[in-house]
Amino acid sequence: MSFPKQFIQDLNDRTVLSELIGKKVKLTRAGRDEFKGCCPFHNEKTPSFTLNNQKGFYHCFGCGAHGDAIKFLQENDNLSFMEAVEQLAALNGMQVPKASPEERERFEQKKTLYDLLEDVTIFFEQALGHEREAMQYLKGRELSDGTIKLFRLGYAPADGQALGNFLKDKGYAVKDMIEAGVLRNSTRNQGETYSFFRDRIIFPVKDLRGRVVAFGGRIMPGRDPGGKAPKYINSSDTPLFHKGQILYNLSDARKNVDVNKPFIVVEGYMDVIALAQAGYDTAVAPLGTAMTESQIEILWKVAPSDARVPVLCFDGDNAGRRAASRAMERTLPLLKPDQSVRFAFLPDGEDPDSLVQNKGKAEFEKFLSAASYLSQILWEEELGKRPGTTPEDRAGLKAALLSRVNTIEHADVQNEYQRMMTSLFYDHFSGKRQSKTPFSRSNYNSKQQDRLAPIAKKPEPVKQTSFGIEHYLLATLVNYPELFDDVEETLGMIEIQDKNLRKMRQKLFETLNSHEVLDSSELKDILKNAGFCEVLDVILSESLYLQAVFARPGQDLGVVKEGWMFTVNRSRKRRKRL
Ligand code: UTP
Ligand code: MN
Repeated sequence: MSFPKQFIQDLNDRTVLSELIGKKVKLTRAGRDEFKGCCPFHNEKTPSFTLNNQKGFYHCFGCGAHGDAIKFLQENDNLSFMEAVEQLAALNGMQVPKASPEERERFEQKKTLYDLLEDVTIFFEQALGHEREAMQYLKGRELSDGTIKLFRLGYAPADGQALGNFLKDKGYAVKDMIEAGVLRNSTRNQGETYSFFRDRIIFPVKDLRGRVVAFGGRIMPGRDPGGKAPKYINSSDTPLFHKGQILYNLSDARKNVDVNKPFIVVEGYMDVIALAQAGYDTAVAPLGTAMTESQIEILWKVAPSDARVPVLCFDGDNAGRRAASRAMERTLPLLKPDQSVRFAFLPDGEDPDSLVQNKGKAEFEKFLSAASYLSQILWEEELGKRPGTTPEDRAGLKAALLSRVNTIEHADVQNEYQRMMTSLFYDHFSGKRQSKTPFSRSNYNSKQQDRLAPIAKKPEPVKQTSFGIEHYLLATLVNYPELFDDVEETLGMIEIQDKNLRKMRQKLFETLNSHEVLDSSELKDILKNAGFCEVLDVILSESLYLQAVFARPGQDLGVVKEGWMFTVNRSRKRRKRL
């Protein structure tokens, strides 16, 4: 929508730029009408961002960002031109004029769609109060009344006409109900409509400014005997809602993000909510799809400039690894100085919701703290594909790393990745301990991003991070008992200092020698019953797998064997040198 020039002029005239921008950026006075600060559009330590109240413009000498109050809101708050104008007008108590009748209609409709969706939200919220089973279900998932209110959870009645009737009474047009995505045209009976969400728990989805623009609906347990209906359905895209550009809970989470509390990206609605209830108020989730490029960019944009490394949570199983790998692929080209992502891998079969509910907050914190940097995951993933035992193989590894690094568009970030991969490569193959690389784990509260600097000392949340060959090999055998015949002799000859570990090796040998076939989970049960729970917790851990990728469950057996051989040979070489 275009506005009369005079209106935009008035809007700018009435706005005191330093007041508007001062809410987001720390400014210092640099003249009668001039202010200075650190630019919100690029990362810097010395201020090169200036603004002039008299002229009504800001300008950054560092990155060239330039504009007026409207432009600032568009860029900094990620608003459309229209929304920026509306917001400024509201701040100044001005009426937004409507230009042509056509534009006016479009604008009005957008407005009524917001109102409509707000009324729908209220309808669903009230319906939840009348549906005992739905409420019971949410209570059964440990949600408090406060949480239910805060997230405005609701219930969509099974009767497909109820919502439409309610909205008609409120004076809304059916065409708008359809446009807003809450009503569908019936394919069977022409002219009839029915509610898109029926007999489902409702999760309202809000835009950046906190207005409801869509819904997710979860099936009620036990109400789909055929098991055919999808567990979750989401509104399809509408003029107000573009799935790939919104994250669930973004408008609230963004208020809480800071240097000690990055965004936590999880998979589902329930994960966000359970985390919020446990005190993690920076969790967001994409809406039924993998995270898109726009969503990553939005997370960077709305976070303060020193908090632009969201932690992405994935399931620790193979599917989770693959999803992480795809997220990495999408993120690499977008990396900028101080803008990256980290990856947290949760235990197999747990999502953040089940983890905090069943095992408590501390357990989730452990995995969050152990989140790996993107650069670390990149290195591990490529290394995990080949053992690097032959020169050809190592050259292949180099080439693969290089080609991934080349997808990074920002020249200097690409440069730094190249240097890091090169140094990791030479460290690794010259037999230096991997734990000496700059990748020591950092924790949730740490300010560190992909930096080479040593990481601030904080209590180590993961029990043990320095492992030896005995840990690697025992973990491998527990996860891959089928290798027993191949590895018994080598493992038997390794010197093990720790008494418990020695005992466990003994027990492993006895067990595997006396059973014909035994799979990993049976083996683990036997070891646990024999009192090796703690030892197993230490060695079958994410921190060990990060150092010995081949020991991780779910690998190709060839990779496991090669990894094993490589580790054994390396330790032999080292011993010879001594
Ligand atoms: P999950 O099935 O992992 O959800 O899907 P969840 O949060 O653990 O579900 P609960 O705990 O059983 O309630 C994760 C997300 O994927 C989307 C939804 O956004 C969901 O939150 N999804 C899932 C769909 O869009 N459709 C589906 O059929 C399933
Ligand atoms: Mn779940």
